[in-house]
Amino acid sequence: MMRFDTVIRHGTVVTASDTFVSDVGIKDGRIIALAAELTDGDEVIDATGLFVLPGGIDSHVHLDQPSGDGIVMADDFDSGTRSAAIGGNSTVLAFCMQEKGQSLREALKVYHAKAEGKCHVDVSFHLVITDPTAEVLGQELPALVEDGYTSLKVFMTYEGLRLRDDEILATLDTARRTGALVMVHCENEDAIRYLIGRHEEDGKFDPKYHATTRPIAAEREATHRALSLAEIVDVPIVIVHVSNREAMEEIRRARQRGQKIVGETCPQYLMLTADDLDQSEMEGAKYVCSPPPRDKASQDACWEGLEQGVFDLFSSDHCPFRFDDPEGKLNEKGKRHFRWIPNGIPGVATRLPILFSEGVMKGRIDINQFVAVTSTNHAKLYGLYPRKGTIAIGADADIALWDPDKRTTVTNDILQHGADYTPYEGHEVRGWPVRLILGGETIVKDGLLTQQKGHGSYLTRNRSSLLSKPYR
Ligand code: URP
Ligand code: ZN
Ligand code: ZN
Repeated sequence: MMRFDTVIRHGTVVTASDTFVSDVGIKDGRIIALAAELTDGDEVIDATGLFVLPGGIDSHVHLDQPSGDGIVMADDFDSGTRSAAIGGNSTVLAFCMQEKGQSLREALKVYHAKAEGKCHVDVSFHLVITDPTAEVLGQELPALVEDGYTSLKVFMTYEGLRLRDDEILATLDTARRTGALVMVHCENEDAIRYLIGRHEEDGKFDPKYHATTRPIAAEREATHRALSLAEIVDVPIVIVHVSNREAMEEIRRARQRGQKIVGETCPQYLMLTADDLDQSEMEGAKYVCSPPPRDKASQDACWEGLEQGVFDLFSSDHCPFRFDDPEGKLNEKGKRHFRWIPNGIPGVATRLPILFSEGVMKGRIDINQFVAVTSTNHAKLYGLYPRKGTIAIGADADIALWDPDKRTTVTNDILQHGADYTPYEGHEVRGWPVRLILGGETIVKDGLLTQQKGHGSYLTRNRSSLLSKPYR
């Protein structure tokens, strides 16, 4: 009789396709048995009444990135991955940002040093391409894709980060040749610059004007352009952080034309609106992110996109800055002009509880869809499947035990991130990850870490399933 390191007993196992009552047998960090009445474990965990889910995979997380003069991101790889674990995630995909003039290898050296020994959960990097020179696209990127850095992000907005259309085309073409998956941030920078200029002439500097200078049309136009550029070079892309119906309809239309397009949305587009930016005492700065939260109709559209499969990915876009801090949202210039408020909000710990509560418990999506959009699809699309993203024989034993009835009021202190606020303060959720297991070892129990940092590993990845075969 096989002896297990750990047995999880009497839980309801959920994958992207199935829900069944089973025990789970774990040995050497992997799942090796799914069966009734597995008893022979060194450790036996009673999961009666709990859901046994694959650990969350958040494929859109910003940690320890330089963010402008005197601005410091609130999370490094220690605090960011700690907060991820508290919220039921066993893997995060963070960004490795290329500085202008820097080689990708140099950038990777910097980010590996930032992450080394600090991570509570497993981590992998997307490359952000800001300087697509002939050397970067011709030599470096193809070699790095072979080495397991199989995804990258390009920006159509932000001075200093945005690429021109010809640069995006060249990057997409390299991605097609090498088998990398490209994420695109779609907002029209020239339109935003123009609107900022007009707001300045009118003396409009409050945080709420962040939203009015980044209108839906600027996102929709850039989404259409990104999809067209991808069509021209015939390559799949991911449209990240979609905030509204118009951009979502562009994705639907591109798919109808036969393009392979992945859509991603985030909690802020389900839970927040532009009204949150319109508050006294600079409180609105807490909600400044790009694209900005829109209105109730846009929230409804994003829910529809999740329900109907337009969005394969539900990610946090965790990009945390402290609020009451001269190195954060309320820096000297940011207090006077929305343009200098660092963009981004914390959310890696709240992503799963919010979708579980608002989506599953309110009947908008079923629990298999929940697993798909929060874990399995991330693993498939970013080359980690079937090692990650499912409960199956041979998969890493990365497992979150969820209590569907546990009611929790979200407060900043329970999230254990580096920010001094959460946009969801006081929001009550139903359902919470009461235990997180990473590679067979419990790392969080009842909201408390049970292991030191350094337990997470760096993951090299295969090419996206989207590039080799239809993944649906
Ligand atoms: O405001 C946001 N989303 N900040 C993070 C950077 C990005 O564009 O994803
Ligand atoms: Zn972005
Ligand atoms: Zn982002």
